[in-house]
Amino acid sequence: MKSNVFIAIEGTDGSGKSTQAKLLAEKMSANGHRVHLTFEPTNRKIGSLLRNILKGTEKADQTTIAGLFLADRLDHLLNEDDGLVKKMADGYTVITDRYYFSSYAYHGVYVDMDWVIACNEMCARILKPDMNIFVDVPTDECMRRIVANRENAELYETNENLKKVRDNYIKAFGKLKDKEQIVTINGNRQIDDVATKIWEKCSELLK
Ligand code: TMP
Repeated sequence: MKSNVFIAIEGTDGSGKSTQAKLLAEKMSANGHRVHLTFEPTNRKIGSLLRNILKGTEKADQTTIAGLFLADRLDHLLNEDDGLVKKMADGYTVITDRYYFSSYAYHGVYVDMDWVIACNEMCARILKPDMNIFVDVPTDECMRRIVANRENAELYETNENLKKVRDNYIKAFGKLKDKEQIVTINGNRQIDDVATKIWEKCSELLK
């Protein structure tokens, strides 16, 4: 049995993955785990720059954006304050709301996905998720939720783009199926039902 695990929650914008990451963290804690719940882009320097780019208050081209997400991810892993490598070594179960599959799916729309995968290989070497959980929701429904919940859509939040992102997730899962643990969960149902399915999968890791 593993004492602490590293889980990445993935999904398109509007898929409900952040809610699910929180619920999983609560469930893990209730089951006696020390949990570190985190997200990408981070709220550190590079992550904050990325949030401004997503909002449109700063500009960068798509290749640079892919590179900045990689830099933010390395900082997320390796920084001395709350870096994930340190958190894992300290015995925390780490749940991250997005990790490298987000880069493959989102940047693969604009730049060569194989290049993005190759760039992120170091992250996989440093810390590979025990499980990548993909919360899968039809993009029409994701768009409906985004419009209902927010005043302004961010850079990647159009139905056409979300469709491409979802297709890219599936393409990336196919490319890496022999190297990565990937679980797809139907996210198009009640929040608690989705959470129960995710917990079933995660508790298998802990047996
Ligand atoms: P979120 O806070 O709703 O998860 O949104 C973060 C945005 O950042 C989302 O549109 C996806 C995007 N993103 C990338 O484009 N590449 C990445 O590597 C990551 C982690 C996120």
